[in-house]
Amino acid sequence: MSDVRPVLIFDSGLGGLTVLREARYLLPYERLHYVADDAAFPIGRWPEQDLHDRLMKLFDGLIREHDPKAIVIACNTAFTLAGEALRDAHPEVPFVGTVPAIKPAAERTSSGLISVLATPGTVRRAYTRSLIESFASKCHVRLVGSDNLAELAEMHLRGEEVFDAAISAEISGCFLDQDGKRTDIVVLACTHYPFLTNRFRKIAPWPVDWLDPAEAIARQLVRVLGQAAASEPSHEPDEAFFTSSPQNPSLKRLLAGFGLTLITR
Ligand code: DGL
Repeated sequence: MSDVRPVLIFDSGLGGLTVLREARYLLPYERLHYVADDAAFPIGRWPEQDLHDRLMKLFDGLIREHDPKAIVIACNTAFTLAGEALRDAHPEVPFVGTVPAIKPAAERTSSGLISVLATPGTVRRAYTRSLIESFASKCHVRLVGSDNLAELAEMHLRGEEVFDAAISAEISGCFLDQDGKRTDIVVLACTHYPFLTNRFRKIAPWPVDWLDPAEAIARQLVRVLGQAAASEPSHEPDEAFFTSSPQNPSLKRLLAGFGLTLITR
């Protein structure tokens, strides 16, 4: 008998859908619940203590309500801040986290110049600094905090117009050209950003590798689930829960494109 408890995938907004689509591909039978704390969006600008407290309280409720067999925190901003505390508070639930892909970037770079594009919160985190010290001490790592890109990604996803100049202003700091070497990898350290990759490619002053961790996160979920992965199709729909209780039909349509039914209360 397969375990029909859902896997909960969490983000502050629509960014975690970049991870959900990979999870859906690798785990076609899994029942997925997508939770967005959109009432708090964007969380990249929140003070650390306030955000930490909010996340701890929110997850107490989510775990009670959804009884998930695993949780994917598809958000760098949340996981680099509260991942460890959440694991300590809920040892019965396996957590899969999202952290800036600094290690794979350091392994792949040819020029040794890497940029990490992230929210201001993720850029400030001690967690991010320690990833650089542990895995990229031989590289030149530039941290680029973006105030607006997560919101621009949501606008783009909703079909609203986003001008090249607005995107360019957020990503231009990623491109370093010094001593005959150029940045060759940009780590997308916010799950919203892969929705804009085609726009980034068009705007970039030279080609770089835009590193999206979504597939690696989904693979980690497969490993964590192990035998608990669903082996037959669930007859329950995949559902989405948004903390602001949005009612708008365009969001319903957008989520339906990801196979999700928006639950409104
Ligand atoms: N998607 C989130 C991340 O990976 C952040 C978006 C926000 O600022 O709320 O960091």
